[in-house]
Amino acid sequence: MANAVEPPKRGEPLLRVDNLSAAYGKIRALHGVSLEVPAAGIVCVLGANGAGKTTLMRALSGLLPVAGGTAVFDGRSIANVPAEQLVRRGVVHVPQGRMVFAQLSVKENLVLGGYTRPAGEVREDIDRVLGYFPRLKERITSRAGTLSGGEQQMLAIARGLLAKPRLLMLDEPSMGVAPIMKDAIFSTLRDIRDRERLTLLIVEQDADIALDISDEGYVIETGRVVMHGPAAELAGNEDIRRAYLGG
Ligand SMILES: Nc1ncnc2c1ncn2[C@@H]1O[C@H](COP(=O)(O)OP(=O)(O)OP(=O)(O)O)[C@@H](O)[C@H]1O
Ligand SMILES: [Mg+2]
Repeated sequence: MANAVEPPKRGEPLLRVDNLSAAYGKIRALHGVSLEVPAAGIVCVLGANGAGKTTLMRALSGLLPVAGGTAVFDGRSIANVPAEQLVRRGVVHVPQGRMVFAQLSVKENLVLGGYTRPAGEVREDIDRVLGYFPRLKERITSRAGTLSGGEQQMLAIARGLLAKPRLLMLDEPSMGVAPIMKDAIFSTLRDIRDRERLTLLIVEQDADIALDISDEGYVIETGRVVMHGPAAELAGNEDIRRAYLGG
C-alpha cells in the first residue's frame, strides 16, 4: 500500500471538494459543501443525525449522483464516476453500519475487499493488514456475523484497506462500538496513517474521539459547512458541541 503512493505536489490537497451538492430526488441534502483533505492528513466532518454526513460520503464514492460543484482527487474529477472505478483509483469508502457479509468468514470478507486487485497480491496483503488488527487474526475463520460491533468495524476497515486505498473514507466508525474498542480503533487508524501515509476522511457524531486523531475538522449542519478549523481548536470549543452536535 505505502510503496505505491506518489505524493501529490506540495501544497495541493489530495482531495478538494468545492461547492458540492447532492439530492435524493427533489430533496436536496448537501448545499454547496467545500473542504480539503491534504495527503496523509486526517480530516473529520462532524455533524448530528441527518446533517448530511453519509450523503457526503456517498456522493464522494460514486454511490450517489453529484448534482453540482466539483470534487477533485489527485488532480482528476471524481464527481459522478462509478464506484468501482473510484476504488481502482484508490478512493475507498467504509460505509456506515459496517455492512460486513455476516454469513461469510472474516477471511472471506477480507478477500472480497480486494476484489479489484490480483488475487495473489491480496493474499499477501491480508497478513500485513491483520497485523493492525490482532483480534481479527484470532477470529479469522469465524463468521463475521458472530463478531462484536467493534470487531465488525475493524473488519470493515481491514476490508477497506485490502482495496489498497490512497484515500480511505470512514462513515461513523465509532457507531455501535463499545468505548474501549473505540479507542483501539481510532488509535489504529492514526497508526495506519502514520505508517502508510494513508489519507483519511472520517465523518462522525462522536466529536471527541474524531477530533482527537484528526488534524482538521469541519462541522456540517443541514448539508452546509458551518465551521472549520484545526482539530485542536475545535476540540477546545464547547459552543460547537452545544450548537451543532446536540451534546
Ligand atoms: N434515501 C434517502 N431518501 C431521501 N432522503 C434521504 C435519504 N437518505 C438520507 N436522506 C435525508 O438526507 C439528509 C441527510 O441524511 P444523511 O444520512 O446524509 O445524514 P447523516 O449526517 O449521515 O445522519 P446520521 O448521523 O443519522 O447517519 C436527511 O435529511 C435525511 O433524511
Ligand atoms: Mg450517516
